[in-house]
Amino acid sequence: MTAVADLLAAETARFEREHPRSRELAARARRSLLGGVPMHWMVRWPGGFPVFAADAAGARVRDVDGHEYVDFCLGDTGAMTGHSPEPTVHAVQEQAERGITLMLPSEDALCVGEELARRFGLPRWQFALTATDANRFAIRLARAITGRPKVLVFDWCYHGTVDEAFATLDHGAVVPREGNLGPPVPPSETTRVVQWNDPEALERELAHGDVAVVLTEPVLTNIGIVPPLPGFHDALREATRRHGTLLLIDETHTLCAGPGGYTAAHGLEPDLLTVGKAIAGGIPAAAYGFSAGVADRVEAAVEEEVSDVGGVGGTLAANVLSLAAMRATLGEVLTDEAFARMIALGERFEAGVAGAIERHGLPWHVTRLGCRVEYLFRPERPRTGAEAAGGGDAELDRLAHLWALNRGILLTPFHNMALMCPATTEADVDRHTDVFELLAAELGPVTIPA
Ligand SMILES: Cc1ncc(COP(=O)(O)O)c(C=O)c1O
Repeated sequence: MTAVADLLAAETARFEREHPRSRELAARARRSLLGGVPMHWMVRWPGGFPVFAADAAGARVRDVDGHEYVDFCLGDTGAMTGHSPEPTVHAVQEQAERGITLMLPSEDALCVGEELARRFGLPRWQFALTATDANRFAIRLARAITGRPKVLVFDWCYHGTVDEAFATLDHGAVVPREGNLGPPVPPSETTRVVQWNDPEALERELAHGDVAVVLTEPVLTNIGIVPPLPGFHDALREATRRHGTLLLIDETHTLCAGPGGYTAAHGLEPDLLTVGKAIAGGIPAAAYGFSAGVADRVEAAVEEEVSDVGGVGGTLAANVLSLAAMRATLGEVLTDEAFARMIALGERFEAGVAGAIERHGLPWHVTRLGCRVEYLFRPERPRTGAEAAGGGDAELDRLAHLWALNRGILLTPFHNMALMCPATTEADVDRHTDVFELLAAELGPVTIPA
């Protein structure tokens, strides 16, 4: 057995021993829940079963066995605000007693639209319940106003459960992404895929003249953090404009870069922008924004009489509870000051991990975007999604997560990713560094073959 497999076996035994109540609930859950979990991604927690939550507040989660965790997973970004932030809870409590969903606008919607316009620079907004839906709706509208059928995405992107985006490249051919369940049509019919940071490939694919919209994160965050090379965003914007293709920037994760996401921090000029997850403190809510020109074209294209059957929107979308939560979260929780503190904590986290990697001579690296930090167990920094996807070490990933979990640290199960929230402290960050250092000491130094 390798050192990693040995350690994993020992950590798994410890996890089972120390979580008897979660284990009991997991056994019971197998009888009423598909796969034993309420949402099937949760099978990805390490240890053989997920810990069952008792409660959460700020940067802390407690499980049903009484363990307390410093939470760097934060609901996979949905709770980047910290759990149950007081202003959001207060707004939700107040609103819940005055109506939850009405199919009527409230004044909160205007305040949120104005605040999103201030943050992201796009003047007009609509709301949805999830970032997935915001992306779907934005894509549909882009098709409607351009009259073009296709979407272009970057290889190994993730934008929620959006059919068009579940495509990868296989020797240059567009194929369903591994794990894509029941694609409605072969994705090559709907989607063009190019490598991130490859302006020539982008140019070649846009030249077909059939791409309604390019959908991208401004920095890939779902296959490790893969930043744009210098000039890539300029090339992307210039090429999309020249080819009459709209540019849709998905800020759902990259909101971690600052109050107006990467778009505001780097002066991007998207035609459409989507954002979800944390913007209502974890209450289901998402938003999609339009440049003035695109908003005018959409308004001209939508016929009022049939606007409720256009494939965009939904009964519960823009409900007054979500909007009250968004207003409080944007106004009082994810503030400019909160971001300044969260990003400083991200820098501390990154420095702690980088120091441990260096001290123990490990062929790993750490990357940061604002208050989001990710370590990858390989020496080279990827420049494309394909490079990031290749050469992973699933066993080491599992060990790192379980090692942390057994020592009171929660990391997102799908990444080695940590997120700082307004309630995270320097001591929380240092605790992670200590735990990571212990793992690095067990595994290093590794001799890198010449
Ligand atoms: C960039 C990005 N966009 C959209 C989504 C979809 O979010 P949701 O699952 O809340 O719909 C995700 C989810 O991870 C994401 O990372």
